[in-house]
Amino acid sequence: MRKIAVLTSGGDAPGMNAAVRAVVRKAIHDGMEVYGVSHGYNGLINNDIKKMDLGDVGDMIHRGGTFLYSARCEEFRTEEGRQRAADNLKALGIEGLVVIGGDGTYMGAGELSRLGVKTVGVPATIDNDIVGTDVTIGYDTALNTIVDMIDRIRDTATSHERTFIIEVMGRDSGELALNAGLAAGAETIFIPERNTKMEDVAERIQAGLDRGKKHSLIVVAEGVMSAEYCSNELAKYINIETRISVLGHIQRGGKPSASDRVLGSRLGAYAVNLLQDGRSGVGAGISKNELTATDFTYVRVHDKQYDNSIYLLSKELSI
Ligand code: F6P
Repeated sequence: MRKIAVLTSGGDAPGMNAAVRAVVRKAIHDGMEVYGVSHGYNGLINNDIKKMDLGDVGDMIHRGGTFLYSARCEEFRTEEGRQRAADNLKALGIEGLVVIGGDGTYMGAGELSRLGVKTVGVPATIDNDIVGTDVTIGYDTALNTIVDMIDRIRDTATSHERTFIIEVMGRDSGELALNAGLAAGAETIFIPERNTKMEDVAERIQAGLDRGKKHSLIVVAEGVMSAEYCSNELAKYINIETRISVLGHIQRGGKPSASDRVLGSRLGAYAVNLLQDGRSGVGAGISKNELTATDFTYVRVHDKQYDNSIYLLSKELSI
């Protein structure tokens, strides 16, 4: 394989730039030509594709976001859109494509590989919800950002002896909420994977207050409910002063952690290796520190399992 391209798609994640850099540098190191596609799948459809040199990815490894830009592309959901994308790549003589993104990106990648474009995925999403990898690029940074924000909220929660309800991202996954809740010492964590009764939450808060606790922190995954809804529901069971905090897109920004840079670099370079080996329709991943490749079809039909022991531990430790 002589010519490949790389794009980032879906919600951006810190470490995407490190992954693009790795694809570009590894490909050039191995004597290939590499092209950058701007604005995700939109760029494939609109031919927004440029040859890249080593210098194009200089001074990028530490930057958040994605310098290739990202998008959620409606046109790529249509057969015509996908065919146009495949035709544009063929016209440029590009034989392989690395797509960096989350589950929506993988779905598009699967369709492209069916159209004959050799395609490999690199998992990058703060949600950490991709099967075939223990961890996705961006998750570690987002988790640390959330914990840092909750630490700040804890200061003011203690000063005013309040209960705070903090809403975190993750779409249908509770990974961010679960591990942020444990790391920040939250009393209650709501995640989509588990049913937590509001009545029990109110009881726990009351027991804490009775023992002289000064504040309470509740972390709620957006996939369960909004912080506002949670606050209204809680008010039906206990009369306490609450405040809500929706962390929002703060969670997606910021410079990538060292772990995300390492992961982005390893998975980006590995994706190039997979294309060189003639692989297509697979997502690169890391499992027990070993690089792995998992079929897109397998990734799409399975849900990532959450670790219930983390949930139970956080409950035990936050009494
Ligand atoms: O998938 C990443 C993510 O940040 C989710 O956690 C969140 O639900 C969604 O993207 C937000 O998407 P947008 O940036 O389009 O509002």
